[in-house]
Amino acid sequence: MLKPAMGPPGGRQTPLCRRDRSLRPLSAEHSSLKETIGFLRAWLRDPLRVAAIAPSGQALARLITSEISGRTGPVIELGPGTGVFTRALLARGVKTEDLVLVEAGADFAEALRLQFPGVRTLCMDAARLRTAVPFGARPVGAVVSGLPLLSMAPRQVFAILSGSFRLMAPEGAFYQFTYGPRCPVPPNVLDRLGLEAHRVGRTLTNLPPAAVYRIRRTDAHARRDGGDARHSSMGRDDPPLAPQSSDGAR
Ligand SMILES: C[S@@+](CC[C@H](N)C(=O)[O-])C[C@H]1O[C@@H](n2cnc3c(N)ncnc32)[C@H](O)[C@@H]1O
Repeated sequence: MLKPAMGPPGGRQTPLCRRDRSLRPLSAEHSSLKETIGFLRAWLRDPLRVAAIAPSGQALARLITSEISGRTGPVIELGPGTGVFTRALLARGVKTEDLVLVEAGADFAEALRLQFPGVRTLCMDAARLRTAVPFGARPVGAVVSGLPLLSMAPRQVFAILSGSFRLMAPEGAFYQFTYGPRCPVPPNVLDRLGLEAHRVGRTLTNLPPAAVYRIRRTDAHARRDGGDARHSSMGRDDPPLAPQSSDGAR
């Protein structure tokens, strides 16, 4: 059975956008075996960043995109890897011009650009999202994340969530999967940002089984930030978060 490679919260950060020569551009015709081998090689080169030894399966791709359609508006995908969720988003009717991919791995990013030529791919750390303006004044309807949040320090998770919700429409949602038994965003990060998490569902057919969480503003924060997502409370600089004690399973 395939084992996830999720490290403990607060784990060491690795350099981003490092080139992995073993990855080749992937076309739609590439077999899933080739994709899996490329993914495994990427993991061997940078296990903390890639954090899984194989791409997610179709069932998880369907689950994490299940509430998204062509009517959602702009969508950002974080950590797309080989594009399993990207293909599902496009199949659900998200327009190529309404989709932006944010991937830290240079070779994943290069292969995504070739595989999805109409979709913008930004090779950057998702924690720097607050500096990006991917859709101009248009608020984002959803963020889909394949990021290994359990391998990241709370401060980095905070930066990813606050940067995402700074761009998000008041009713927009952040979708995150996890192999663990609860939401992988620490409760103090959710509290500080005025967010709440609900489990969308779980799939046993993924290897390993995974759950998907929808993270939204609480009603009070949605009302407060309702005017203009770009000027929401999420965009402010906040003091560093103290690491929270954790059982490592979030
Ligand atoms: C567990 S893999 C998930 C890949 C794909 N979404 C899937 O489910 O098969 C994590 C992905 O997140 C990317 N990643 C890790 N840290 C990142 C960061 N700080 N910013 C952007 N991408 C990152 C990795 O390069 C990798 O593509």
